[in-house]
Amino acid sequence: MTSVREIFDTMEYGPAPEADGAAREWLEKHDAKFGHYIGGAWTKPSALFDVSNPATAKRIAQVSQGSRKDVDAAVKAARKALPAWQALGGHGRARYLYALARTVQRSSRLLAVLESMDNGKSIRETRDIDVPLVARHLYHHAGWAQLMESEFAGYHGAGVVGQIIPWNFPLLMMAWKVAPALATGCTIVIKPAEFTPLTALLFAELADAAGLPAGVLNVVTGDGETGAAIVSNDGVDKIAFTGSTEVGRIIRKATAGSGKKLSLELGGKSPFIVFEDADLDSVVEGVVDAIWFNQGQVCCAGSRLLVQEGVSDRLIAKLRARMETLRLGSPLDKSVDMGAIVAPVQLERIRSLVDAGKAEGAEMWQPSWACPQEGCFYPPTLFTNVQPSSSIAQVEIFGPVLVAMTFRTPSEAVALANNTQYGLAASVWSESINLALDIAPKIKAGVVWINSTNLFDAAAGFGGYRESGFGREGGREGMWEYLARDRDTHTDDLAAGRAARATARATKGSATVRPIRRAAELDDPDRGAPLVDRTAKLFIGGKQARPDSGYSLRVVGADGRVLGEVGEGNRKDIRNAVEAAHAAAAGWSKSTGHARAQILYYIAENLAARSEELARRIAALTGGDGVAEVEASVSRLFTYAAWADKYDGQVHQVPLRGVALAMNEPMGVMGLVCPEEHPLLGLVSLMAPAISVGNCVVAVPSERAPLAATDFYQVLETSDVPAGVVNIVTGGKDTLAKTLAEHDDVDAIWYFGSPAGVKAVELASAGNMKRTWCVSDRRSWTDRDVGEGREFLREATQVKNIWIPYGE
Ligand code: NAI
Repeated sequence: MTSVREIFDTMEYGPAPEADGAAREWLEKHDAKFGHYIGGAWTKPSALFDVSNPATAKRIAQVSQGSRKDVDAAVKAARKALPAWQALGGHGRARYLYALARTVQRSSRLLAVLESMDNGKSIRETRDIDVPLVARHLYHHAGWAQLMESEFAGYHGAGVVGQIIPWNFPLLMMAWKVAPALATGCTIVIKPAEFTPLTALLFAELADAAGLPAGVLNVVTGDGETGAAIVSNDGVDKIAFTGSTEVGRIIRKATAGSGKKLSLELGGKSPFIVFEDADLDSVVEGVVDAIWFNQGQVCCAGSRLLVQEGVSDRLIAKLRARMETLRLGSPLDKSVDMGAIVAPVQLERIRSLVDAGKAEGAEMWQPSWACPQEGCFYPPTLFTNVQPSSSIAQVEIFGPVLVAMTFRTPSEAVALANNTQYGLAASVWSESINLALDIAPKIKAGVVWINSTNLFDAAAGFGGYRESGFGREGGREGMWEYLARDRDTHTDDLAAGRAARATARATKGSATVRPIRRAAELDDPDRGAPLVDRTAKLFIGGKQARPDSGYSLRVVGADGRVLGEVGEGNRKDIRNAVEAAHAAAAGWSKSTGHARAQILYYIAENLAARSEELARRIAALTGGDGVAEVEASVSRLFTYAAWADKYDGQVHQVPLRGVALAMNEPMGVMGLVCPEEHPLLGLVSLMAPAISVGNCVVAVPSERAPLAATDFYQVLETSDVPAGVVNIVTGGKDTLAKTLAEHDDVDAIWYFGSPAGVKAVELASAGNMKRTWCVSDRRSWTDRDVGEGREFLREATQVKNIWIPYGE
């Protein structure tokens, strides 16, 4: 018999299994067979596939494979329910969300157990983290529903939303998606992952019992094909997706040009940075939470451990000791730290990536204890001696595998941290708050945890930079993903309409701009003496630059006369401009809002000084009111000079002793493809908000009337704008737009032009998953309500949440 003394020595304890009777009963009640939940009713189970418990490899239920027809029916039900759901108003929807939150709390044990059985994650996590956070999201968004009309005045729910979620946090991801959609007045078609559909079905049943109106929430089960049917359905207004970057890219392409709103929360390879003054014992527990929580199947898992050289050996030794004491086993055992991997295919993926790591020369270490033989288990794994470029340091493993690397200086830490295509999250560990807060903004990631990791809350936005996707879930920032403007299409003012018609008449039968090689063609026989030959150049890196092509384009005025020529920019010019913008980006983004405001005011001042000349130019180009356009442009520059030091972030109220700082960070280098109408005001309306918040830009001005932009660069040259902050490339708009969209070093692109152009830009942007804002509706640029303001600033920034716990 074991003596008490031995027990104190080993700290060994027995299993503490959670009862699964209620979940089994629930499954039995449904004969362990499920149809879809559409329009408030259950369809007959059909085309069934198995759902297994990953810990036992045994089948626990069968669910239906959703067909295109099922998806159609669900979308129709959602569309039918939409008007009444929107008309219900914020308070009405708040009551439903509140009821759902209460229902989840009342059913919390059943939900937690079912989630463990379905996914393989430990009951400790489903009970203490997933389900409480689900309730928290519903409560929090009950609040947003209540406040929607006042806090989001001028906006309404985007419509019918299609939501596709992964298997790693099945119920929690559902809540993250469903709560803001319901709050804003959207109706929903959601597809859970094929491995883990059960808690979504239970949630639908609970919502039904809570009286949620039929059609507001529809759940269709199935695999990627069902997901693809949701994405391509014409009745869907918005897609929200969480999952792999690979599928995110497919969805980006599939929705290109469709007008559907899109938010993508994708993969990651998040750095966990340890400075030598960090409290190493806390770090060890942090690592446990970062990479062994949920068996490492976490999109923001701290899977790359970056340690300052001086403490690396000590930390690795402590980590190995801790790994020996981790308990892995039945997910329903309340005392296990790690449960099962979701499915054999995922286990295989982990194994093969680990093998690749070993083959690449990295050193693998696993604890001495063995995993259970039955079911899908994988032990906690630590790699040292890892090359930053190796596959295990770059590829998202999505398993309990940590790769450790060392660095010497803070700047090396930042370089290593950012050496990834992803940008979802990061952890920074240091007892020096100065150092930690200096590092946080330098890391390209949507969430940074200081001396902590994997903290989530409904009040703080979550989402990525770069190939980790775009859009946020949670917080005020997450609400925007489900909202549309009340006035989304605008008829332009009469003058612009007249001008467009005049230009169309003047250029009838010929292209608006044509390649030309002989400047002599510019001679105007009616004028006597020839015009002084002048070809406007491109503006790159603060200098006027000849186009690489050596070609220029003729610009025809509103009355049909040739007004001049501009350079025909090409791929090489765009590359040069992007390079120049990058060279300027670090300095410009770090400059103060006050300094940026000063420069915007100075541009306005110099523009006003040349207003007569520019007004004449605009009138000649468009036939419109040039004086009014210059005036409006000066005013717009003032607007963003005003905003430069006022577009504040927020301090989120998260339930923790600490704060979550939601910082508005610039996107980086932005491509701006300007509207055709209002050649000066259109350019200024895009450029000014982008640079006011710290972006550097490559602008493609109006193709029809580019001379206003080339005159404008002379204003920029005299206004202290640092070289490279604004670059202007004239030429074929849609060709240049596509080049910008394809460029991997462009972080975001705005496009105002034709529907075909929108589609091409959205498609091409899938390369590096850059954020796009593409608009084909005409906008009244002279109307301050739609031509300027927060919408532009929001599109020019991304929110980074920096969590800073405090106290002993
Ligand atoms: P996945 O991205 O294929 O699946 C996520 C969801 O998308 C599921 O509901 C799936 O049915 C659906 N889906 C698949 N193909 C689709 C398509 N063409 N159109 C629309 N929906 C589609 O992820 P999977 O295969 O389950 O896991 C593969 C890898 O992806 C993992 O090893 C991991 O690296 C990564 N992953 C990342 C997640 C994250 O949260 N960042 C979540 C899940 C997986």
